[in-house]
Amino acid sequence: MTTPVIQVAHAAVGYDGPPVLRDVSLDVTAGEVVAVLGANGSGKSTLIRAVLGLVPIGAGSVTLFGTPLRRFRQWHRIGYVPQRLGAGGGVPATVREVVASGRLARRGVLRPPGRADREAVAAALGAVGLADRAGDPVATLSGGQQQRALIARALAGQPELLVLDEPTAGVDAGSQEAFAGALRGFVNDGGTVLLVAHELGPLRPLISRAVVVHQGGIVHDGAVPEPAGHHADPDHEHVHPHCDEEPAGLWSI
Ligand SMILES: Nc1ncnc2c1ncn2[C@@H]1O[C@H](COP(=O)(O)OP(=O)(O)OP(=O)(O)O)[C@@H](O)[C@H]1O
Ligand SMILES: [Mg+2]
Repeated sequence: MTTPVIQVAHAAVGYDGPPVLRDVSLDVTAGEVVAVLGANGSGKSTLIRAVLGLVPIGAGSVTLFGTPLRRFRQWHRIGYVPQRLGAGGGVPATVREVVASGRLARRGVLRPPGRADREAVAAALGAVGLADRAGDPVATLSGGQQQRALIARALAGQPELLVLDEPTAGVDAGSQEAFAGALRGFVNDGGTVLLVAHELGPLRPLISRAVVVHQGGIVHDGAVPEPAGHHADPDHEHVHPHCDEEPAGLWSI
C-alpha cells in the first residue's frame, strides 16, 4: 500500500529571518512510523509545523492525504501533540475534558457528545494509563502525566495520522512503555505516525524510518541511526563508509 499521507517537496520554511529549512522533501506513506531526529534548534518542530500548516512555507509544496495544504480541510484525520503543554495554566479543566476536546473536530462544537465520543475518550484514557485520573484537574497532574493527557486527546479523535513532537520528553520509563503500547495499537489499526524524538527508547522497535535534520536540511532518510552511546563504546571500530552522512548531535561521533 503506497497511499501518500504526507508529501513535502522542496520546501523552504522559516519565521521572520532567513529560512530555517531549505529544499526539504519528505514523503510519508500510510502505515509508516517516521521519527524525525536532530540536534536542538535543527528545525524538527519547524518541519512538522510546516507539514500542519502552522508555519507558512516560502517555497515548494506540502500535500496531506493527496490534497494541497491550502485546500486541506479534513483536520479530523490528523491528531497533533505539540512539543509542550502550552496554555492551560489556570484553566480548571479535568483530564477527561482535555481528552474529550480531541473529539471536537469530529462532532462539531454544538452537538452534544454521543456514545461514540464517550467510548473514544475512555479508550484513549485507558491507552495512556490515565483512566483513574479522568476526573482530576489537569493542573494537578505531573508534567509527564499532562503529556500523556495530550497524547490521549490526539488518540481520542481517532485520527489516521498522528503527529507528535517529542511525546516522551521528560516522561519516565513506565510512561514511555505505556505510550509505546498505545502507539503500537494505533499502528496495528493502520495508523500513520510522524514523531520527533531525542531518545527513542521503547519506541525504537516501532519506528520504520528515521529522518535526520541538520543545518537546514534532511541529511539522512532511512534506517534508524545508532545512538552516540554505540559509537562511544571503546570496542567499537569506526568503519562506516557513510559516516560523513551522520550529523552532529546525539546521533553521531
Ligand atoms: N516561533 C519562532 N519564531 C522565530 N524563530 C523560531 C520560532 N520557532 C523556532 N524558531 C527558530 O527556528 C530554529 C529551529 O527551531 P525548532 O524549534 O524547529 O528546532 P527543534 O529542532 O525542534 O529544536 P528542539 O530539539 O530544541 O525542540 C531555531 O533557530 C529557532 O530559534
Ligand atoms: Mg522542537
